Amino acid sequence: MKKISIIGAGNTGATTAHWLAEREIADVVLLDVVEGMPQGKGLDLLEAMPIIGRDTKVKGTNDFADTKDSDIVIITAGIARKPGMSRDDLLKTNAEIVGNAATESLKYSPNAIFIVLTNPLDTMAYLVMKKTGLPRERVIGQAGILDSARMRAFVAMETGVSVENIQCYVLGGHGDEMVPLTRHSNIAGIPLRDYLPADKLEAIVNRTRKGGGEIVNLLKTGSAFYAPAMACAQMADAILKDKKLIVPCAAYMKGEYGLNDMYFGVPVMLGAGGLEKIIEYKFDEAEKAMFEKSAASVKETHEALKSLVAL
Ligand code: APR
Repeated sequence: MKKISIIGAGNTGATTAHWLAEREIADVVLLDVVEGMPQGKGLDLLEAMPIIGRDTKVKGTNDFADTKDSDIVIITAGIARKPGMSRDDLLKTNAEIVGNAATESLKYSPNAIFIVLTNPLDTMAYLVMKKTGLPRERVIGQAGILDSARMRAFVAMETGVSVENIQCYVLGGHGDEMVPLTRHSNIAGIPLRDYLPADKLEAIVNRTRKGGGEIVNLLKTGSAFYAPAMACAQMADAILKDKKLIVPCAAYMKGEYGLNDMYFGVPVMLGAGGLEKIIEYKFDEAEKAMFEKSAASVKETHEALKSLVAL
């Protein structure tokens, strides 16, 4: 059985472990700084396996040595913004947590592929790549699958069509400036623009952009975790099964889409080598403008990180 370690056993970490274990995708190690909590969640999840007949092993720990020889490391560790905390304070704190998680994990799993989930997502993926010195193929940020899934869910709610028939593509940074591509999105091959009236489509695009905030407002204490965790599980599955799955993820740009030295949400091919290819769409002028606006916003956070942390 392959092995996946999840750093941060909070809502997204534990739920990712749940999806992975249930699907027998890999044995799972859940690591957290809080003592007892990952061990308790790990044991509880392990005890659920006989009921569904899965032989997945799950272990909770506080010790990075237990992550040894992982095929994939998923980083979800971090803290949420607290009242009175500035964006830069949060960035600095999460950069320390994520940077340490990445370097400690790499010591024990020199061949692992890293999936980064902690926000601000694009910038945390950039940090992991810089801190570990790994090639971009082995550091991939989650986000596009989640944003696209939210849009697909909203289209299904509006049309009553099966989610299986609905393909949506949301690219760009994981923030309000994300880029939902309505021209490329479709229902059973019919462009969304032809299927839905313009006002309905615009409402779906706006709801998608604010999808994360909608959940935060409802939960009041914490952010979304079921769908982000499922997105991580899909990425890990595609890598371990060498599926060559094309999905939007945050990837390090080396000239693609005219962008350099930054992480950004683009369609990538996931397989045994991690990020095996970046797919380039042809954009019209309006799409290009949205893409550039989103890139500028991500770049700004990258610059803030560079001013706070030595890379
Ligand atoms: N090492 C390991 N785990 C840590 C560390 C650390 N240095 N610092 C904090 N953690 C753990 C916390 O103890 C907590 O259990 O990270 C976990 C984070 O879990 P939650 O607070 O439940 O947050 P969650 O909803 O899982 O989100 C985590 O992912 O989706 C993003 O925006 C989200 O950045 C956030 C991250």
